[in-house]
Amino acid sequence: MPAEGASPLATISRLKSHVGEVVGLRGWVYNLRSSGKINFIILRDGTGFVQCVAALGEVDEATFARVGGLTQESSVTLTGKVREDRRAPGGYEVTLTSLDLIAPSAEYPITLKEHGPEFLLDNRHLWLRTPRQVAVMRLRSSLVKAFRDWLDDNDFILADSPILTPSSCEGTATLFSIDYYGEPAFLSQSGQMYQEATALALGKTYCFGPTFRAEKSKTRRHLMEFWMLEPEMAFCDLDEDMRVQEEMLSYAVQYLLKRHAEEFVALGRDTAALERVKPPFPRISYDDAVDILHKKGFEFTWGDDFGAPHETAVSEEFDRPVFVHRYPAAVKAFYMKPDPERPEVILGADLLAPEGYGEIIGGGQRLDDLELLERRLKEHGLPEAPYRWYLDLRRYGSVPHAGFGIGIERTLTWIAGLDHLRETIPFPRMINRIYP
Ligand code: 4AD
Ligand code: MG
Repeated sequence: MPAEGASPLATISRLKSHVGEVVGLRGWVYNLRSSGKINFIILRDGTGFVQCVAALGEVDEATFARVGGLTQESSVTLTGKVREDRRAPGGYEVTLTSLDLIAPSAEYPITLKEHGPEFLLDNRHLWLRTPRQVAVMRLRSSLVKAFRDWLDDNDFILADSPILTPSSCEGTATLFSIDYYGEPAFLSQSGQMYQEATALALGKTYCFGPTFRAEKSKTRRHLMEFWMLEPEMAFCDLDEDMRVQEEMLSYAVQYLLKRHAEEFVALGRDTAALERVKPPFPRISYDDAVDILHKKGFEFTWGDDFGAPHETAVSEEFDRPVFVHRYPAAVKAFYMKPDPERPEVILGADLLAPEGYGEIIGGGQRLDDLELLERRLKEHGLPEAPYRWYLDLRRYGSVPHAGFGIGIERTLTWIAGLDHLRETIPFPRMINRIYP
C-alpha cells in the first residue's frame, strides 16, 4: 500500500478529475510491455483500463525491477502522475512513481491471443475480466436499470413472482422438476401467472428474476437459466400492451446509447441501427408474416410456428423491431386469449429484433373467461388442481388484462451486436454446461 497520506486513491474511470495530480490506483496487471528503459503496464481496476509508464531514471531501480518482474493479473497498488494523452486508450496515461505488489499471479490461462469458446467458457470466472466482457456486463447492468426506471416512473409496482412453483406456464416439455418435501414442483419458466394475480391486486406490476427452461436444443439463443422482466397490466388490451413494450424498449435503447458510447466502441457495435429504435414499431399479423415468407421463397404452411430463419427473414424487412401479432392459437400457450373475431388466432404478439436477432419479447392479452380457460387446461393436458388459484382470478372480478416477458439476454445480444447470448450473462447455464 502507498505510504499513509501519500496520494489520494482514484479509480480509472475518474482519472479525468485528477489530471496533473499524483494519485493511488489499485488493480490488476492486464498486460505488460517493455522497451528496454521503459516498462508499460496496462492496469485494470474494474472501472476501466489505463496505461502506466515506468521509465528508468524517473522511478528508482528497485521499483523499475519490480514492474519488470510482474506477471499478467498480479494485483498491485501503485502511485503515479495522471497525464492527458489523446493517443492513449481511454485518453489518459499514468507516469509511475511507486508500485507495490499485493499478490502475484500464476501463469494466466487467458492470454491476449485467440481462445476457443469452450476454453473461454471453462474459464468464465477469469474471462469476465477481459475488456469485451466488462463492456457487456456494464451494458447489462444499465439495461436492467433503464427498464426498471421506466416501469417505476410509469406506476408499475415490483411484485416478485416465486421461483419454486407447483405448475407450468410455458408447457411441460421444458420443466426442471424438483422434489418439494415429497410433492412435485418445478423451477419457474415464467412469473407471468403470478403477475396476473398481482396486477389484479395492484393494477400494474412487474417481476424481474431468473427463469428456467430445460431446452432440448443447443442454439445461440437459448439458455437454461435466463432473466426475464415481466410486466402485467389490468384493464389492458393487446394494442396497449404493444404500446407499452415499444415505449419501454425504446427508452432503454436510447438510455444505453447516451451513456455507453465507450462500451459500444469496445464491442465494435455500429449503433446506427439502434438510433432508429423509437416508437412506433411496425405491427404485422402472423398472416402478413407468412405472406412475406412466401414472397421470399420459403415453403411455409399456415399454422406452423416460426423458427429462427423465418424470424430473421421477416425482421429483415424492417428497420426497427417489429411486432408479429395474432399467431395461430395452436402454437401458443394455453393462457392466450383468442381473437373474438377469429378464434383460431390469439391476441398475442412477439417482438422480433432487427438484424436477424429474433424474438426478444413474448406477450399478449390473457384468457379472462373462466369456462374457456378450464377447457384450455384440459386440451393442454394440464391438471386443474395446481391452477385453482389461477382460475380464481377469472372467478372473482375478471377483467381484460395483458402483459409481456422480455428476455434480458436475448435483448442484450441484439443491442450489443453479439453472435451468441452466452456472453450476456455472468455465468451462462447451457445444455451440457453447469460449470463454473
Ligand atoms: O415467449 P416466452 O416463452 O413468453 C413467456 O414466458 C411469457 N409467459 C411471458 C409473459 O407474457 N409474461 O418468453 C419470453 C421471452 C422471449 O421472448 C425471450 O426473450 C426469452 O423470454 N426467452 C429466452 N431467453 C433465453 N433462453 C431461453 N431459453 C429463452 N426462452 C425465452
Ligand atoms: Mg415466445
